[in-house]
Amino acid sequence: MAVKHQVIKDGVKIFWGSRSSLFHFSWLRDNCQKLIHPQTKQKLHSSRPVDAEPHTVQFENDKLTIRWKQNSISKGIHSQPYESEYNINWLLKNDYSNPPQKLIKPILTKAIHFEQNYNPIEYSDFLNDDESYKSVLKQLRDYGISFLKNVPLNEREVETVAKRFGAIRDTFYGLSWDVKSIPNSKNIAYTSLELGLHMDLLYFESPPGLQMLHCMENTANGGSSTFLDIYQAVDQLRKESSEHFETLKKVPVTFHYVNDGYNFKFRRPTIVDNEYEDELNIYYSPPFQAPLQAKPELVNSFYEAFGHLESIICQKDNIFKKKLVKGECVIFANRRVLHGRDQFDANSGNRHLRGVYVGWDEFKDRLRINGLAST
Ligand SMILES: [Fe+2]
Repeated sequence: MAVKHQVIKDGVKIFWGSRSSLFHFSWLRDNCQKLIHPQTKQKLHSSRPVDAEPHTVQFENDKLTIRWKQNSISKGIHSQPYESEYNINWLLKNDYSNPPQKLIKPILTKAIHFEQNYNPIEYSDFLNDDESYKSVLKQLRDYGISFLKNVPLNEREVETVAKRFGAIRDTFYGLSWDVKSIPNSKNIAYTSLELGLHMDLLYFESPPGLQMLHCMENTANGGSSTFLDIYQAVDQLRKESSEHFETLKKVPVTFHYVNDGYNFKFRRPTIVDNEYEDELNIYYSPPFQAPLQAKPELVNSFYEAFGHLESIICQKDNIFKKKLVKGECVIFANRRVLHGRDQFDANSGNRHLRGVYVGWDEFKDRLRINGLAST
């Protein structure tokens, strides 16, 4: 690609093929690569206004070289006169005139697509074979869910699954935890009742992004797991009623866990715009909703809009139902793929899952490190 440049009043314009990018002198000055510590890769200064006046600007051999004026240097972030150099590939990567594409482009998924994509990966391959591991990362990136099979039935094996992505997210439930029916349970998850579709831990400021459930035993009648792509459901809602979509962005919902000596709460709308990050921010967890605290004039419109979303979530063709088998482990994006389960008969057998959480940051880190994301 033929690359040209043009110096203008407050920066340098680079022309690459049919597109152009502007790099301001203030930005170039702030991002001089000599100001990055070679070992730590961290900036050695804070960003602050500087009189970034170039003395000369050269563009040769795919390299932009700027020699700064003495007076700008004396007021600026360096005490010594110097040149800054910027490699063309580095500029292209950090081109803010043409921001990079989003890291994650979810493929909206209905029940039939979940079925078609159901393809459990052998656990030993997930641990030892890079391509198998990457295929799990890709499934999670695109569809928000992936399955492993033949995971050994050790109580803490699910922690080994989690560590393949990063540090385990410890919570008051413990590093890893049981999901099984227990008498006098303090959480509906630990009963044999139907558990509606939901996300976990929305009463935290930063709910975990990944959840893993390892099936240790599933001999009871009933107890199929249910999953639903909330991105698909909200997309459907937006197409059917932009008014309802907007209402769910305006009205905050309080999520809480007030039981057993704990009092966790967090309040946020069901749909939160997130212009800068890759994923949509949707928060849906009816079992953990506190009484609504909204502006009085918005109460009825909230229930109307939320009821609409709820009706989409209840549509059978949106819900993927799967009875996990012993040794199977489902990994899913907690804030994208809702999970729940059918009621089961605790007298007919046992249903026992082991769960663990990992942060979304750890997952995105693995995507980048494995070359599965461009940014
Ligand atoms: Fe849950």
